[in-house]
Amino acid sequence: MEDKKFKRTTVTAALPYANGGVHIGHLAGVYVPADIYVRYLRLKKQEVMFIGGSDEHGVPVTIRARKEGITVQEVVDRYHNLIKKSFEDFGISFDIYSRTTSKIHNKFASDFFRTLYDKHELVEKTEEQFCDEVTGEFLTDRNIVGTCPRCGAEGAYGDQCEKCGATLSPDELINPTNKNNPGHGLVKKATKNWYLPLNNYQNWLKQWILDEHKEWRPNVYGQCKSWLDMDLQPRAMTRDLDWGIPVPVEGAEGKVLYVWFDAPIGYISNTKELCDAQPEKWGPWQKWWQDPSSRLIHFIGKDNIVFHCIVFPTMLKAHGDYILPDNVPANEFLNLENDKISTSRNWAVWLHEYLVDFPGKQDVLRYVLTANAPETKDNNFTWKDFQDRNNNEL
Ligand code: 2FM
Ligand code: ZN
Repeated sequence: MEDKKFKRTTVTAALPYANGGVHIGHLAGVYVPADIYVRYLRLKKQEVMFIGGSDEHGVPVTIRARKEGITVQEVVDRYHNLIKKSFEDFGISFDIYSRTTSKIHNKFASDFFRTLYDKHELVEKTEEQFCDEVTGEFLTDRNIVGTCPRCGAEGAYGDQCEKCGATLSPDELINPTNKNNPGHGLVKKATKNWYLPLNNYQNWLKQWILDEHKEWRPNVYGQCKSWLDMDLQPRAMTRDLDWGIPVPVEGAEGKVLYVWFDAPIGYISNTKELCDAQPEKWGPWQKWWQDPSSRLIHFIGKDNIVFHCIVFPTMLKAHGDYILPDNVPANEFLNLENDKISTSRNWAVWLHEYLVDFPGKQDVLRYVLTANAPETKDNNFTWKDFQDRNNNEL
């Protein structure tokens, strides 16, 4: 990933949801590879910025608040601090680690939406959406569960099946039910939202990715291709929810920006936060996001591919002032003892817990996760392998 035509590199690592700690899957999939790459560029004396932060909107944090019986603000404060500390403890050398509840981000994301709105890049549509028959509350895709139409797994979410990784819409689920109140029925009610017309960008995306980025990893390129071989649909960028950034448009009371609209903008607003704090060191934020001689690289896990390769680039293109990612290295998943790592089922090796058992042994874990990185296929972490590698290789 080196090219003389670029003067500097803007490296982002996916913003983890502030609904839990960081586990070995996060580390192996995203943060250790990104950190290794950034350290390599720094050693070569290249100009680089490494951006991270917590994703504090969206449904996962509200689900966690309900589960723990505390406020959403308390949830994001608790987990943002825990996540930030874990990254520091494990030497993930971010230049900034901020959060999407920051003031700067709120304004930045709101202005970005407004720019698209004013350019008529968003389509207003009134559609029927699922809501709780008893409370009348609209349900987000994540709060609807059912059988996956692709693999048949139970408990697939309305936006994604965690078993097979398929991206879904609630209408596709077989026997959809209300996740938090399984006893309440589902009904449909009309609501107005603003959509990003991905369909208008399909030809451009095909050319940009399928023709001009054949060098992207096969798993990333392949997932993009299978999306682009289907007809892209307009995707709602606003939601009927009370946790999030208010939609800055008249007639949008009670609506917030879709979390996948605001979160990737967090990379940019966090850059701005850093540049504003240390202008002599970093220069203006635009240098990192709008100068064509800057190379943008997103490190992510495979469940984030469509958002970073299709949705976010379309937002950037529609806005008009931004560079596009030059590469989007996505890793596959790391399993734990042959079972899928899961925050909700608490099946994970949490970094803060690892440090209780193995104080000072961060590098052992970084080494094992790098040696066994899930680059081309899902891999498996076992304590036996951890022990063997420690004893035989280190
Ligand atoms: O999948 C996740 O954990 C998301 N919170 C990643 C967001 S990445 C970016 F868009 F901010
Ligand atoms: Zn599935």
